[in-house]
Amino acid sequence: MSKLFTPIEFNHVQLKNRIVMSPMCMYSCMKQDGKMTPFHETHYISRAVGQAGLVMTEAAAVLPEGRISHEDLGIWSDEHIEGLNKLNEQIHSYGSKTGIQLAHAGRKAQLDSAIYAPSALAFNESSKTPTEMTITDIKRTIDAFKEAARRAKKANFDIIEIHGAHGYLINQFLSPLTNKRTDEYGGSKENRYHFLSQVIDAIQTAWDGPLFVRVSTDEYDEHGNTMGDVIYFAEQMKQQGIDLIDCSSGGVVPASIKPYPGYQVKRCETIKQNVAIATGAVGLITSGLQAEEILQNDRADLVFIGRALLRNPYWPKVAADELGDQLDAPKQYERGWR
Ligand code: FNR
Repeated sequence: MSKLFTPIEFNHVQLKNRIVMSPMCMYSCMKQDGKMTPFHETHYISRAVGQAGLVMTEAAAVLPEGRISHEDLGIWSDEHIEGLNKLNEQIHSYGSKTGIQLAHAGRKAQLDSAIYAPSALAFNESSKTPTEMTITDIKRTIDAFKEAARRAKKANFDIIEIHGAHGYLINQFLSPLTNKRTDEYGGSKENRYHFLSQVIDAIQTAWDGPLFVRVSTDEYDEHGNTMGDVIYFAEQMKQQGIDLIDCSSGGVVPASIKPYPGYQVKRCETIKQNVAIATGAVGLITSGLQAEEILQNDRADLVFIGRALLRNPYWPKVAADELGDQLDAPKQYERGWR
């Protein structure tokens, strides 16, 4: 049996394999309400039928002003629970576990209303300048993450992932490029970590299941967070009981990135080795052999698959065939699976 198809446990939640459907915004909600649609059900459930061990939703906004677009998925209201719960019930029936990525876009929200960020700096020339968050705004946002976690629990998710990457709100606090505050939330790396630290603490009052955090391990700017800063954040997260760091990169400031197969894996490995915490590798991982190499060489504990799973919901079956593993089929498909 390959490592890719060996189960793994996080805080009493067992995944049947190491394949995670990476969070991917579908911008497909109707009427700006942030609710699940039939498209979302088909989209996520088909990856469970395809046997991904963990199906992670796209970024779900914890506040309406924290959406990237009006079509984003939401978890800012109790009205979102029912649709999410229905989705989870279906996904669980195929043996996959479910995760939700909790997010706030901060200055990267492309909305008509006011937008908020740690500092009043626009992302680029064509984007809006955000309003600098007051302490009251910060407290309200931290509380929104807690409320979202409470709803995620009610909706029966197995895992929560905090979106701390790609230049969205949490990343805006973490990065010296976007955080120019002079209060306790800005300045030193300790202060820049303060917001995420409080978000984690708040979520943990409402959620006792596995908690992952996605971070940008490279900001592609010489004045951005260094690997040393990211390792410091990871050490803090470990102390706070975070179960896994999902290692992505970029998105903080406009930068041109030239991705290549496994382009983020080295930084993922560095964090895993330096901090002794479980990590998730993501980014142009497209074959079973490539995933197996990453896991066997202890470079990560999970592989997050994005576009390859968009192209083929049965990517796990292709990977299993490549690795010579038998992958259980959903019972309806057994006769055509081998
Ligand atoms: C993404 N990605 C992403 N990441 C994230 O943390 N939250 C999100 O909601 C989204 N949304 C999103 C939408 C779409 C259409 C794509 C293609 C990507 C990034 C994604 O999770 C993944 O990290 C990257 O796509 C790199 O992995 P792959 O696609 O090379 O496997």
